[in-house]
Amino acid sequence: MNQDDWKARLALIRDGSLSALGKTDAAGLAEFETHYLGRKGELTLLLRDLKDFPVEERKILGALGNALKTELSAALDVRKAETGAGAADLKKSRLDLTLAGYPFPQGSLHPLTVTANKMCDGFQKLGFSIADGPLIEEDYFNFEALNFAPDHPARDMQDTFYVDLKDAKGGDLLLRTHTSPVQIRAMKSQEPPLRVVSAGRVFRSEAVDASHSFVFHQLEGFYVDRNVTMADLKWTLEAFMKDLFGSQAKVSFSPSFFPFVEPGAQVAVSCVFCKGSGACPVCKGTGWLELLGAGVIHPNVIKGCGYDPEKWSGFAFGAGIERFAMLLYGIRDMRMLYENDLRILKQIQ
Ligand code: DAH
Repeated sequence: MNQDDWKARLALIRDGSLSALGKTDAAGLAEFETHYLGRKGELTLLLRDLKDFPVEERKILGALGNALKTELSAALDVRKAETGAGAADLKKSRLDLTLAGYPFPQGSLHPLTVTANKMCDGFQKLGFSIADGPLIEEDYFNFEALNFAPDHPARDMQDTFYVDLKDAKGGDLLLRTHTSPVQIRAMKSQEPPLRVVSAGRVFRSEAVDASHSFVFHQLEGFYVDRNVTMADLKWTLEAFMKDLFGSQAKVSFSPSFFPFVEPGAQVAVSCVFCKGSGACPVCKGTGWLELLGAGVIHPNVIKGCGYDPEKWSGFAFGAGIERFAMLLYGIRDMRMLYENDLRILKQIQ
């Protein structure tokens, strides 16, 4: 077969098929489709013959053949609609809505988010509101306003990520090393009394191990009102711990130092695993788990925020969220919380 023969055959198929289509009723359309467009249909076979033509000719003839294929398919659709055959097709392949769908994995919140939410919920029940602060913080909010002396070792390059930029007043900018600057921002922008918690990411130049990371999360809380004392702090933290870990939870305070509180305390909760019974790898047999730093807000901090320290006093606390997540979910190594291995995450939902 030469080019002209092929073209003549194509023309014949075109004329034949289009005139046949006009006379075909709904019942005959499937057969029509098989006859021309099916795997062994006339047009399909003619297109297959192209393999014997030289490449250049094949290209031209192929385009003509494919154009007819498109034309015929479109005409077939029109005819199906005219004769109502489309509706018959639909009926045949009716959609069965009762068939079960394919299961697909449903996402969920990360355990750290769940823990932070739980902690915030606990304090919201006690009347605290939620605040937020920037991750890139001014030296003033992160250190100075929190009563850190200018030569305090916490400002050292060793444990602080400084940023190569200055704030509007030429002060240093850094990745916040704790959530305590939110206290200052909240106090400076609002009038007392204030009860605020804030959860978020903090950054320190730490080597990574099972209980340290250079990025981790803290929950900060503070309360400023008239006559707030250590007793209010103790009651609040105890109520929070009982809500989170159960009514048997007890808290213990031991003296500690943070520049922005006086007195300062390290707060521990009775071990949620062994309940103080002895050889426990988590509390190392002490019966207590150190969970947060806290204290009565230093008058210098109160004054620096523009409040009269004779009138207003407050307490503050800061906790590592990872530590709470590890206790709530029984996780031994905090790196598990960052690796985002679904096999692990699925187990701690
Ligand atoms: N900011 C402290 C830290 O990161 C934790 C802390 C201790 C926060 C005592 C407080 C507090 O609000 O009163 O180590």
